[in-house]
Amino acid sequence: MAKSNQDRKLKHLFDGGDWNVYQPNILNLGVGAPGTDLLSSNCDSFRKATDHCLEREKRDNQSLIFQYGPTSGTFEVRREISTYFTEMFESPVNCEDLMITTGATQGLHLLLSTMIDLQGFVFVDEYSYMIALDSIKHFNSLTIVPVKLNDDGVDLNDLEEQVSKRRFSSEKKEFWGMYYTIPTYHNPTGILFSPEVCRGIVQLARKFDFLVVCDDVYNILHYGEKPTHSRLMSYDDRKDADFAGHVISNGSFSKILGPGVRLGWLEVPARLKPILDGCGFANSGGCFNNYTSGIVESLFELKLAQKQIAVFYEAYKERMLATTQVLRDELPQCCKLVSPTGGYFIWVRIPDCLDSREFLKYCLEHQKIYFIAGPRFSVDGQSGKQFFRLSIAFYPKEKLVDGARRLCQTLKDYIVTQKIPQGVS
Ligand SMILES: Cc1ncc(COP(=O)(O)O)c(C=O)c1O
Repeated sequence: MAKSNQDRKLKHLFDGGDWNVYQPNILNLGVGAPGTDLLSSNCDSFRKATDHCLEREKRDNQSLIFQYGPTSGTFEVRREISTYFTEMFESPVNCEDLMITTGATQGLHLLLSTMIDLQGFVFVDEYSYMIALDSIKHFNSLTIVPVKLNDDGVDLNDLEEQVSKRRFSSEKKEFWGMYYTIPTYHNPTGILFSPEVCRGIVQLARKFDFLVVCDDVYNILHYGEKPTHSRLMSYDDRKDADFAGHVISNGSFSKILGPGVRLGWLEVPARLKPILDGCGFANSGGCFNNYTSGIVESLFELKLAQKQIAVFYEAYKERMLATTQVLRDELPQCCKLVSPTGGYFIWVRIPDCLDSREFLKYCLEHQKIYFIAGPRFSVDGQSGKQFFRLSIAFYPKEKLVDGARRLCQTLKDYIVTQKIPQGVS
C-alpha cells in the first residue's frame, strides 16, 4: 500500500503497526492510553459541553472563543482547573500560576525551549518516559545526564554529584540545567517518590539553582491510601526563607479525559511565569488551545468532567489491582515487581542474565503479547535489559488478567529454554 494511503487510514496512534491494539488476537501491553471503552462516553458529555460553551459565547462573549486567546488561557478555564485540582491535591493550585498547553508533551517542549541554556544539562532518571527523552534529544546542544533511581525515587547523592560537577553560570537563560522527572507514579517504574526524596530534590535545586520539571500526569490516580503529598511542587514552599521558585508542574487531561482532547497546563512559580508569557512561541498563538479549553471549562461547570474522571479512575484502579494480583501470584520466583500504588505502569525485573528484548520476541511469537523492553527507557537505549514495562490503561480487566496469566506462563517457559534455574536472580 502506498504510504499516503496508509496514512489516510490511520485514526489513532496505535493502529499503524503490526501490533495494532484493535486486532482481537493481539494484546499490546505497551499502550499508555485509555482504551475505547473508557473514551466512548466522551461523545455525549463533550456534545453537551460544546453546546453549553457555544451558547455562552454567542450570548455573552462576542464569540471570542474563536479569537486568539490570552497567552496563558482564559481566567475562567484556569479557575476551573485550579478549583478542581486544589480539591484533589488538598493543596492550593493558584489560577494565576497556570498556563494552558496542548498537553504535557508540549509543556515540556515549551520549557526546554524557553527556560534552559541550550548549552546546558538535562538530568533525567536512569529510566524515564521514553518519548520525553526523544524530545530532549531533539535539542541536540543539550547534554542529557542519567541519574540513579532507587525504589523511593532519585538517588539524592548521585543527583548532587552529577549536578555539582556540571553547574555553570548562564548568561543567556534563567537556568543552566533542568532535572526532568515523573515523581508521582513514575513512568516506567510506577514508583512514588518519598517525601524525603522530594524534599531533598527541592533543597538541591535551590542550592545549585537548577529547574525541576515534574510531569504530573498520573498524580490523582492513586489506588491505595492517598499519598501524603500530591506533588513534588508542594515541597517548594513559598513560606520558606530561601524560596525562589524552582519547580514547575506539568499537568494534562490526556490520562483522565482523553489524549485526543490535547489539553494540559503548566503550574509555574510567579517569578518564572513572565518568561513563558513573554515568549514568542506562546504569544504568537495566543492561548495554545483556546477553543478546546473553553469546551473543557464548560465540561467542569456542568460537572461532566468530574464524573468522567471518576469513571476513568475506578476503571484504572480495578485494572491495576487485578493485574498486580496475578503477577504477584504467578510470576516466576526469580522475577520481581514493586506493586505500584497508582498510575499506569508495572515494572517487572527479570534475572540479570536475561534480556527483555529477547523475551519480547519470544512472547510475540508464542502469545502475541507485546510490552516495552527496559532499554527503550534509558538514555543510551541499551541499559535496562533486565526490566520490562506493562501498562494497565488500555484493556478491560478480564483481558488484562488473562494476558498477565499468559505472560507469566510464557516467562516460565522462556526461562526453561534459557536453562536458568528458577531460584536464580
Ligand atoms: C510521563 C508522561 N508525560 C507525558 C505524557 C504525554 O502527555 P500528553 O498527552 O499530555 O502530551 C505521557 C504519556 O504517556 C507520560 O507518561
